[in-house]
Amino acid sequence: MKQQLEVKVPFVDLKAQYHSLQAEIRDAVLDVLETTQFVGGIWVERFEKEFAAYVGVAHAVGVSSGTSALELALKAAGLGAGDDVIVPANSFFATAEAVSNVGARPIFADVDPLTSHLNVSSAELVVTARTRAIIPVHLYGWSVDMKPIEEFAKKHELFIIEDAAQAHGIGRAANKVGSSGRLTCFSFYPGKNLGAAGDAGAVTTADYALAEKIRRLRDHGSPAKYRHTLIGTNARLDSMQAAVLSVKLPYLDSWNAKRYRHAEMYTDGLRGSAVLTPILPPSGEHNFHLFVVRIAQRDRLREHLIRNGIECGVHYPVPLHLTEAYQALAASQPGSLPVAERLASEILSLPMFPELTAAQIEYTIGTIYDFCRSHGLSLKSAISV
Ligand SMILES: Cc1ncc(COP(=O)(O)O)c(C=O)c1O
Repeated sequence: MKQQLEVKVPFVDLKAQYHSLQAEIRDAVLDVLETTQFVGGIWVERFEKEFAAYVGVAHAVGVSSGTSALELALKAAGLGAGDDVIVPANSFFATAEAVSNVGARPIFADVDPLTSHLNVSSAELVVTARTRAIIPVHLYGWSVDMKPIEEFAKKHELFIIEDAAQAHGIGRAANKVGSSGRLTCFSFYPGKNLGAAGDAGAVTTADYALAEKIRRLRDHGSPAKYRHTLIGTNARLDSMQAAVLSVKLPYLDSWNAKRYRHAEMYTDGLRGSAVLTPILPPSGEHNFHLFVVRIAQRDRLREHLIRNGIECGVHYPVPLHLTEAYQALAASQPGSLPVAERLASEILSLPMFPELTAAQIEYTIGTIYDFCRSHGLSLKSAISV
């Protein structure tokens, strides 16, 4: 019989966070049950106000997931059949899927090897007269430097829609991601830095007309009962999720600060090893949703960590242009986006969540050094960027 390995360091521990807020979360959920306002109503309105104030933007529209946030933002921006949208090749599948679901076509650009963010020089190679929008992704929780993206978008007259599914509570120059005024899409999937107790998402914007359009699109295009002015869908934010998110929002900054300290500890501890650690930007810029290291022997290191009770992940193992679903696209050739393809074989996400302990981080670091020693790997073997 196969022996079950004991997990010593989980990748994410949602129970720890739930237990720390158990009474508050239960009270909020019971309140929803008592009021029976299960869809829409005070809970959703309250969270939308709180999240907009937290981000520093006029409107936050609660929706059913990060994926629906992207789909509704694209629709509200008027994108559809015949339009191309530039998407970075290293992101979660939903970034491209949302583009396809509104009838537009994702066009993949390569990423920067240091930041893993969309590379504007690569975007220049794929932009055409059909290109109408670009979706920068604040990947791993590091806010994208928007200046080059803005210049590129201006030059080619493109709409910018930000994918902030992993970027809660951070930004550059004190401007939080989501406060730019543009359509910015958040996910509150349970494992995110601000996670619901199920699926949930939001779109933020400073544009009243776009916010109203998304409010309508998420609710069957309906401004009033049985009146339908647009073809929308059902992508409303659930009241229970809104209530849970309202409880959790005041803790987000302290959770992000803890993640950042864990990132510093990993970085210090792994400095002499064969793994390349990510850049540590100023703390306000990165929420370390994921702590992603690089090593040529990634698969063997991953197996070694798992054998020693340390869970880890790969974000993401297949670049979007090479996923099976996009094989029909002309650009889906191996070798076409070399940085994203190389990263996919080298990246490894180490355990990261606010409640991670110093002992768990030290154990993970020690286990990585054991692997390096047993494979004759030293700092000199670390890959160059
Ligand atoms: C970068 C990115 N975009 C979009 C999404 C989709 O969000 P959701 O799972 O809430 O639909 C995710 C979620 O994992 C994501 O990480």
